[in-house]
Amino acid sequence: MNPSPSSSGGGSVPARELWGTRWGFVLAAVGSAVGLGNMWRFSYIAAEGGGAAFLLLYIVMIALLGIPLMLCELTVGRRTHLSPIGALRELGGKGWVPLGFLFVVTGFLILSYYSVIAGWTLRYAAEAAFIGFAPDPGAHFGEISEGRAAIGWHLAFMVLTIGIVMVGIQKGIERAALILMPTLVLIVLGLAVWALFLEGAGEGYAFYLMPDLGELMDGTVLRQATAQAFFSLSLGMGAMLTFASYLSRDTDLNQEAVTISFADFGVAFLAGLVVFPVIFALGLQDSVTESTVGALFISLPGAFVEMGTMGRVVGLLFFLALGVGAITSAISLLEVVTSSIIDELGMARKNAAIGIGILIAFVGLLSARDIDFLGLADAIAGDLFLVVGAFCMSLFVGWFIKADPAEELARGAGEGFKRFIPLVIFLIRYVLPPVILIVLVFALQDTWAAITAFIVGS
Ligand code: TRP
Repeated sequence: MNPSPSSSGGGSVPARELWGTRWGFVLAAVGSAVGLGNMWRFSYIAAEGGGAAFLLLYIVMIALLGIPLMLCELTVGRRTHLSPIGALRELGGKGWVPLGFLFVVTGFLILSYYSVIAGWTLRYAAEAAFIGFAPDPGAHFGEISEGRAAIGWHLAFMVLTIGIVMVGIQKGIERAALILMPTLVLIVLGLAVWALFLEGAGEGYAFYLMPDLGELMDGTVLRQATAQAFFSLSLGMGAMLTFASYLSRDTDLNQEAVTISFADFGVAFLAGLVVFPVIFALGLQDSVTESTVGALFISLPGAFVEMGTMGRVVGLLFFLALGVGAITSAISLLEVVTSSIIDELGMARKNAAIGIGILIAFVGLLSARDIDFLGLADAIAGDLFLVVGAFCMSLFVGWFIKADPAEELARGAGEGFKRFIPLVIFLIRYVLPPVILIVLVFALQDTWAAITAFIVGS
């Protein structure tokens, strides 16, 4: 095996660092995927979208669309051993460089507000530990979600993220993932078992899991399942591409994609098994229908307050797990931007991570000062840009790439997976582009509505 990178043409770049172990890569990728999206967005969409019937549909979407799209990113990353811009230039030519820039801009923007939300999470964990949850969570959230309080925690979270990324792949990102991801899974698993014994848990499970086939026939649900699959798997902005660029040639990409996707689904499913029993045990189901980020920070703390001391312990664990999920996702967002700067400008990792991290933290101040701006940034980068990125990526690997993706997928692949490669290529060429295009049309409408709402509101 030859782990040396292909030259990006940007001068003498030192040999690229690789993951230390297979599990290092898998856990870092799962860390990227598991985040705020799993803990709240998923449960809510699943419950509204038909419960157990939705879960089945969601698994089908992951297998049919999520895994092939992830394989698009993984093949390009591992094949070139370059960050998105250089990778697209090498396999597509100059015309595809703008897509690389889109990835970098998306990562930059998402991290700028993701960090603000993560800051709220850290603050809630700290409050649970030291003073307990506020008695009026709605009013409290209003106080801490914007302004000086939000800025402090946002900056603290950015410092943490920069601190990990600047150290490098093995000693920074890989080590953090090896410690943090098992911790997160243990906490969520523990909470799910605890929730089993709550009075009224049964109603929560029923709401979450009751199969409702009628909902499935609704086009919105299909679209939501697709969008949620992409968002939750961190696809559409080169995060998986970048992580795969640190992989050696002998890994089985197919197996990694399956492992990552099902781990991500597993955590989302488990989180639902915590959220719904807690909410139903306390009769707070009305608040479930608000899908905004705020709901996570209002209705759940409301439940924890009513549970007394036990609620404080559980709440601390819950927000700690959420914070852990957020930081491992933030790492991958910053890594996309950082690795691009390292490759394109030949900067040292430490300088690149610190420099760009400070810039992102600065832009994030806009979201920390104004929650409406945060919503706008999410509508533009989190909804629209990710879908545009996913669409272009599927077109690129399906039709324009100057290399054979089937050959790259077969490299290091086990016999069992090899048989599926023609099917994967078929899905990439003929199924992904049209399906993502449909999602894109809706995303455009949603984003446009968000932009006009912001302008009218301010
Ligand atoms: N997957 C993350 C979550 O579930 C959010 C996310 C979307 C993301 N795209 C990303 C994280 C790209 C890192 C990189 O919360």
